[in-house]
Amino acid sequence: MTIRTATLNGVTTIEIARPEKKNALTTAMYQAMADALRAAAEDPAVRAVLITGQPGIFTSGNDIEDFMARPPGQGGSAVAESPVFQFMRALLECDKPVVAAVTGGAIGIGTTMLLHCDFVYVSDEARLAMPFVALGLVPEFASSLLVPQLMGQRMAAEKLLFGDPFTPEQAVECGIANAVLPASEVVNHARRIAERFNALPPGAVREAKRLMREPQRAEILKVIAAEGTLFAARLRSPEAMEAFQAFFQKRKPDFSKFS
Ligand code: COA
Repeated sequence: MTIRTATLNGVTTIEIARPEKKNALTTAMYQAMADALRAAAEDPAVRAVLITGQPGIFTSGNDIEDFMARPPGQGGSAVAESPVFQFMRALLECDKPVVAAVTGGAIGIGTTMLLHCDFVYVSDEARLAMPFVALGLVPEFASSLLVPQLMGQRMAAEKLLFGDPFTPEQAVECGIANAVLPASEVVNHARRIAERFNALPPGAVREAKRLMREPQRAEILKVIAAEGTLFAARLRSPEAMEAFQAFFQKRKPDFSKFS
Protein backbone atom coordinates (compact mmCIF):
# COMPACT_ATOMS: atom_id res chain seq x y z
CA MET A 1 0.00 0.00 0.00
CA THR A 2 1.68 3.23 -1.11
CA ILE A 3 -1.21 5.65 -0.56
CA ARG A 4 -3.15 5.27 2.67
CA THR A 5 -6.45 7.05 3.04
CA ALA A 6 -8.67 7.33 6.08
CA THR A 7 -11.57 9.55 7.06
CA LEU A 8 -11.89 10.42 10.72
CA ASN A 9 -13.52 13.29 12.55
CA GLY A 10 -14.46 15.17 9.38
CA VAL A 11 -10.98 14.95 7.81
CA THR A 12 -9.85 12.69 4.97
CA THR A 13 -6.14 11.98 5.33
CA ILE A 14 -4.15 11.07 2.23
CA GLU A 15 -0.82 9.67 3.38
CA ILE A 16 2.00 9.03 0.92
CA ALA A 17 3.63 5.87 2.24
CA ARG A 18 6.45 4.54 0.08
CA PRO A 19 9.44 5.34 2.28
CA GLU A 20 11.77 2.79 0.64
CA LYS A 21 11.63 4.94 -2.52
CA LYS A 22 11.51 8.24 -0.65
CA ASN A 23 7.78 8.49 -1.35
CA ALA A 24 8.35 8.83 -5.12
CA LEU A 25 4.95 9.02 -6.82
CA THR A 26 3.93 6.49 -9.46
CA THR A 27 0.97 6.70 -11.85
CA ALA A 28 -0.95 4.29 -9.58
CA MET A 29 -0.30 6.55 -6.59
CA TYR A 30 -1.49 9.67 -8.46
CA GLN A 31 -4.65 7.80 -9.44
CA ALA A 32 -5.24 6.74 -5.82
CA MET A 33 -4.76 10.35 -4.64
CA ALA A 34 -7.08 11.68 -7.36
CA ASP A 35 -9.77 9.14 -6.36
CA ALA A 36 -9.37 9.98 -2.66
CA LEU A 37 -9.66 13.72 -3.31
CA ARG A 38 -12.78 13.29 -5.41
CA ALA A 39 -14.36 10.97 -2.82
CA ALA A 40 -13.59 13.51 -0.08
CA ALA A 41 -15.11 16.32 -2.15
CA GLU A 42 -18.32 14.31 -2.59
CA ASP A 43 -18.65 12.98 0.98
CA PRO A 44 -20.84 15.33 3.06
CA ALA A 45 -19.18 14.02 6.24
CA VAL A 46 -15.80 15.38 5.11
CA ARG A 47 -15.00 19.00 5.95
CA ALA A 48 -11.30 19.12 4.95
CA VAL A 49 -8.49 17.05 3.45
CA LEU A 50 -5.02 16.48 4.91
CA ILE A 51 -2.13 15.42 2.65
CA THR A 52 0.93 14.09 4.45
CA GLY A 53 4.04 11.96 3.98
CA GLN A 54 6.46 9.97 6.10
CA PRO A 55 8.91 11.14 8.77
CA GLY A 56 11.80 12.81 6.93
CA ILE A 57 10.19 12.75 3.48
CA PHE A 58 7.02 14.28 2.08
CA THR A 59 7.73 13.11 -1.46
CA SER A 60 10.79 12.94 -3.71
CA GLY A 61 8.49 13.84 -6.60
CA ASN A 62 7.51 11.85 -9.61
CA ASP A 63 8.98 8.34 -9.73
CA ILE A 64 11.75 8.77 -12.30
CA GLU A 65 11.45 5.17 -13.49
CA ASP A 66 7.76 5.79 -14.11
CA PHE A 67 8.63 8.99 -15.99
CA MET A 68 10.62 6.81 -18.39
CA ALA A 69 8.21 3.85 -18.57
CA ARG A 70 4.82 5.58 -18.40
CA PRO A 71 5.15 9.25 -19.39
CA PRO A 72 1.93 11.30 -19.61
CA GLY A 73 0.57 11.13 -23.15
CA GLN A 74 2.00 7.66 -23.73
CA GLY A 75 0.69 5.82 -26.78
CA GLY A 76 -1.12 8.88 -28.11
CA SER A 77 -3.39 9.21 -25.04
CA ALA A 78 -4.25 12.76 -23.98
CA VAL A 79 -1.69 14.24 -21.57
CA ALA A 80 -4.54 15.81 -19.60
CA GLU A 81 -6.06 12.37 -18.95
CA SER A 82 -2.91 10.95 -17.32
CA PRO A 83 -3.11 10.09 -13.60
CA VAL A 84 -0.84 12.98 -12.56
CA PHE A 85 -3.12 15.44 -14.37
CA GLN A 86 -6.17 13.79 -12.79
CA PHE A 87 -4.62 14.21 -9.35
CA MET A 88 -3.71 17.84 -9.91
CA ARG A 89 -7.12 18.58 -11.45
CA ALA A 90 -8.83 16.97 -8.44
CA LEU A 91 -6.66 19.15 -6.18
CA LEU A 92 -7.49 22.31 -8.14
CA GLU A 93 -11.19 21.46 -8.23
CA CYS A 94 -11.51 20.36 -4.59
CA ASP A 95 -13.96 22.81 -3.06
CA LYS A 96 -13.06 21.77 0.50
CA PRO A 97 -9.96 23.08 2.27
CA VAL A 98 -6.80 21.07 1.64
CA VAL A 99 -4.09 21.15 4.30
CA ALA A 100 -0.55 19.83 3.66
CA ALA A 101 1.74 18.53 6.39
CA VAL A 102 5.18 18.60 4.77
CA THR A 103 6.91 15.99 6.91
CA GLY A 104 10.28 16.22 5.14
CA GLY A 105 11.79 16.75 1.69
CA ALA A 106 9.32 18.00 -0.92
CA ILE A 107 10.86 17.71 -4.37
CA GLY A 108 9.39 18.46 -7.79
CA ILE A 109 5.65 17.91 -7.65
CA GLY A 110 6.06 17.65 -3.88
CA THR A 111 6.57 21.41 -3.88
CA THR A 112 4.35 22.13 -6.90
CA MET A 113 1.28 20.60 -5.24
CA LEU A 114 1.75 22.90 -2.22
CA LEU A 115 1.04 25.90 -4.47
CA HIS A 116 -2.52 24.57 -4.84
CA CYS A 117 -3.18 23.63 -1.20
CA ASP A 118 -4.96 26.06 1.12
CA PHE A 119 -2.76 25.58 4.19
CA VAL A 120 0.85 24.35 4.26
CA TYR A 121 2.77 23.42 7.43
CA VAL A 122 6.40 22.42 7.03
CA SER A 123 8.67 20.36 9.26
CA ASP A 124 11.77 22.24 10.41
CA GLU A 125 13.79 19.41 8.84
CA ALA A 126 12.21 19.71 5.38
CA ARG A 127 13.82 21.03 2.21
CA LEU A 128 11.80 22.09 -0.80
CA ALA A 129 13.07 22.04 -4.40
CA MET A 130 11.79 22.21 -7.96
CA PRO A 131 14.70 20.75 -9.98
CA PHE A 132 12.81 20.43 -13.25
CA VAL A 133 15.36 22.15 -15.50
CA ALA A 134 18.25 20.06 -14.15
CA LEU A 135 16.20 17.01 -15.17
CA GLY A 136 15.78 18.36 -18.71
CA LEU A 137 12.17 19.31 -17.92
CA VAL A 138 10.14 22.50 -17.46
CA PRO A 139 8.04 23.78 -14.55
CA GLU A 140 4.60 22.19 -14.18
CA PHE A 141 1.07 22.82 -12.95
CA ALA A 142 1.31 26.60 -13.07
CA SER A 143 4.53 26.85 -11.05
CA SER A 144 6.01 29.01 -13.85
CA LEU A 145 3.19 31.48 -13.10
CA LEU A 146 2.71 31.11 -9.35
CA VAL A 147 6.32 30.88 -8.14
CA PRO A 148 7.37 34.24 -9.72
CA GLN A 149 4.15 35.76 -8.35
CA LEU A 150 4.93 34.52 -4.85
CA MET A 151 8.65 35.26 -4.61
CA GLY A 152 9.42 37.63 -7.50
CA GLN A 153 11.32 36.92 -10.71
CA ARG A 154 14.83 36.95 -9.12
CA MET A 155 14.15 34.35 -6.44
CA ALA A 156 11.98 32.35 -8.82
CA ALA A 157 14.90 32.14 -11.27
CA GLU A 158 17.04 30.54 -8.52
CA LYS A 159 14.34 28.06 -7.60
CA LEU A 160 13.05 27.21 -11.09
CA LEU A 161 16.13 27.52 -13.31
CA PHE A 162 18.78 26.20 -10.88
CA GLY A 163 16.32 24.19 -8.80
CA ASP A 164 18.07 25.49 -5.68
CA PRO A 165 16.60 23.93 -2.54
CA PHE A 166 15.02 26.24 -0.03
CA THR A 167 14.42 26.07 3.68
CA PRO A 168 11.05 25.86 5.46
CA GLU A 169 11.64 29.40 6.74
CA GLN A 170 12.10 30.65 3.16
CA ALA A 171 8.91 28.82 2.18
CA VAL A 172 7.05 30.78 4.85
CA GLU A 173 8.73 34.09 3.91
CA CYS A 174 7.64 33.80 0.28
CA GLY A 175 4.13 32.62 1.13
CA ILE A 176 4.33 28.98 0.01
CA ALA A 177 3.86 27.83 3.61
CA ASN A 178 1.95 29.07 6.65
CA ALA A 179 4.38 28.01 9.37
CA VAL A 180 7.39 25.89 10.29
CA LEU A 181 6.89 23.29 13.03
CA PRO A 182 9.11 20.80 14.82
CA ALA A 183 9.19 17.57 12.81
CA SER A 184 7.42 15.71 15.61
CA GLU A 185 4.50 18.16 15.64
CA VAL A 186 3.83 19.01 12.01
CA VAL A 187 1.22 16.32 11.27
CA ASN A 188 -0.76 16.87 14.48
CA HIS A 189 -0.71 20.63 13.96
CA ALA A 190 -1.93 20.28 10.36
CA ARG A 191 -4.64 17.86 11.50
CA ARG A 192 -5.85 20.34 14.14
CA ILE A 193 -6.06 23.03 11.44
CA ALA A 194 -8.08 20.67 9.20
CA GLU A 195 -10.39 19.76 12.10
CA ARG A 196 -11.18 23.43 12.75
CA PHE A 197 -13.45 23.25 9.71
CA ASN A 198 -15.79 20.96 11.66
CA ALA A 199 -16.90 24.05 13.57
CA LEU A 200 -17.45 26.25 10.49
CA PRO A 201 -20.43 26.36 8.11
CA PRO A 202 -19.38 24.17 5.15
CA GLY A 203 -21.34 26.07 2.52
CA ALA A 204 -19.72 29.38 3.40
CA VAL A 205 -16.26 27.74 3.46
CA ARG A 206 -16.85 26.29 -0.02
CA GLU A 207 -18.06 29.59 -1.49
CA ALA A 208 -15.24 31.57 0.13
CA LYS A 209 -12.60 29.17 -1.22
CA ARG A 210 -14.14 29.36 -4.69
CA LEU A 211 -14.17 33.17 -4.59
CA MET A 212 -10.53 33.27 -3.51
CA ARG A 213 -9.48 31.02 -6.41
CA GLU A 214 -11.83 32.22 -9.16
CA PRO A 215 -10.04 35.39 -10.37
CA GLN A 216 -6.92 33.49 -11.49
CA ARG A 217 -8.53 30.20 -12.36
CA ALA A 218 -8.70 30.59 -16.15
CA GLU A 219 -5.12 31.84 -16.34
CA ILE A 220 -3.86 28.96 -14.19
CA LEU A 221 -5.61 26.38 -16.37
CA LYS A 222 -4.17 27.97 -19.52
CA VAL A 223 -0.63 27.89 -18.11
CA ILE A 224 -1.05 24.29 -16.90
CA ALA A 225 -2.07 23.21 -20.41
CA ALA A 226 0.92 24.99 -22.01
CA GLU A 227 3.39 23.62 -19.44
CA GLY A 228 1.89 20.12 -19.75
CA THR A 229 2.42 19.95 -23.51
CA LEU A 230 6.04 21.06 -23.15
CA PHE A 231 6.67 18.84 -20.12
CA ALA A 232 5.38 15.74 -21.92
CA ALA A 233 7.56 16.50 -24.95
CA ARG A 234 10.62 17.15 -22.78
CA LEU A 235 10.16 13.83 -20.93
CA ARG A 236 11.12 12.18 -24.21
CA SER A 237 14.05 14.52 -24.90
CA PRO A 238 17.67 13.32 -24.96
CA GLU A 239 18.44 15.88 -22.22
CA ALA A 240 15.88 14.30 -19.88
CA MET A 241 17.08 10.79 -20.76
CA GLU A 242 20.62 11.78 -19.79
CA ALA A 243 19.37 13.25 -16.49
CA PHE A 244 17.24 10.20 -15.62
CA GLN A 245 19.99 7.71 -16.49
CA ALA A 246 22.49 9.73 -14.44
CA PHE A 247 20.13 9.58 -11.43
CA PHE A 248 19.91 5.80 -11.51
CA GLN A 249 23.62 5.41 -12.26
CA LYS A 250 24.30 7.69 -9.24
CA ARG A 251 26.48 10.06 -11.29
CA LYS A 252 26.34 13.70 -12.37
CA PRO A 253 24.55 14.25 -15.70
CA ASP A 254 26.68 15.45 -18.61
CA PHE A 255 24.88 18.03 -20.74
CA SER A 256 28.04 19.21 -22.55
CA LYS A 257 27.07 17.57 -25.86
CA PHE A 258 23.70 19.37 -26.08
CA SER A 259 23.21 22.73 -27.76
N1 COA B 1 12.05 8.31 -8.48
C1 COA B 1 12.43 7.01 -8.41
N2 COA B 1 13.18 6.52 -7.40
C2 COA B 1 13.53 7.37 -6.43
C3 COA B 1 13.16 8.73 -6.44
C4 COA B 1 12.39 9.19 -7.52
N3 COA B 1 11.96 10.45 -7.59
N4 COA B 1 13.69 9.32 -5.34
C5 COA B 1 14.35 8.37 -4.66
N5 COA B 1 14.25 7.20 -5.31
C6 COA B 1 14.81 5.89 -4.93
C7 COA B 1 16.32 5.83 -5.18
O1 COA B 1 16.59 5.43 -6.52
C8 COA B 1 16.71 4.77 -4.16
O2 COA B 1 16.37 3.51 -4.69
P1 COA B 1 17.32 2.23 -4.42
O3 COA B 1 17.34 2.05 -2.93
O4 COA B 1 16.64 1.12 -5.15
O5 COA B 1 18.69 2.63 -4.96
C9 COA B 1 15.77 5.02 -2.98
O6 COA B 1 14.68 5.75 -3.51
C10 COA B 1 16.40 5.87 -1.89
O7 COA B 1 16.86 7.10 -2.48
P2 COA B 1 18.33 7.71 -2.25
O8 COA B 1 18.63 8.65 -3.37
O9 COA B 1 19.31 6.59 -2.02
O10 COA B 1 18.09 8.49 -0.87
P3 COA B 1 18.88 9.77 -0.32
O11 COA B 1 18.42 9.94 1.09
O12 COA B 1 20.33 9.68 -0.61
O13 COA B 1 18.31 11.01 -1.19
C11 COA B 1 16.61 12.31 -2.26
C12 COA B 1 16.94 11.35 -1.12
C13 COA B 1 15.08 12.50 -2.24
C14 COA B 1 17.34 13.64 -2.06
C15 COA B 1 17.06 11.68 -3.60
O14 COA B 1 16.55 10.37 -3.67
C16 COA B 1 16.61 12.41 -4.82
O15 COA B 1 17.20 13.42 -5.18
N6 COA B 1 15.58 11.89 -5.53
C17 COA B 1 15.14 12.37 -6.80
C18 COA B 1 14.40 13.70 -6.66
C19 COA B 1 13.95 14.18 -8.00
O16 COA B 1 14.71 14.61 -8.83
N7 COA B 1 12.63 14.03 -8.24
C20 COA B 1 11.99 14.32 -9.47
C21 COA B 1 11.47 15.70 -9.48
S1 COA B 1 10.64 16.09 -11.00
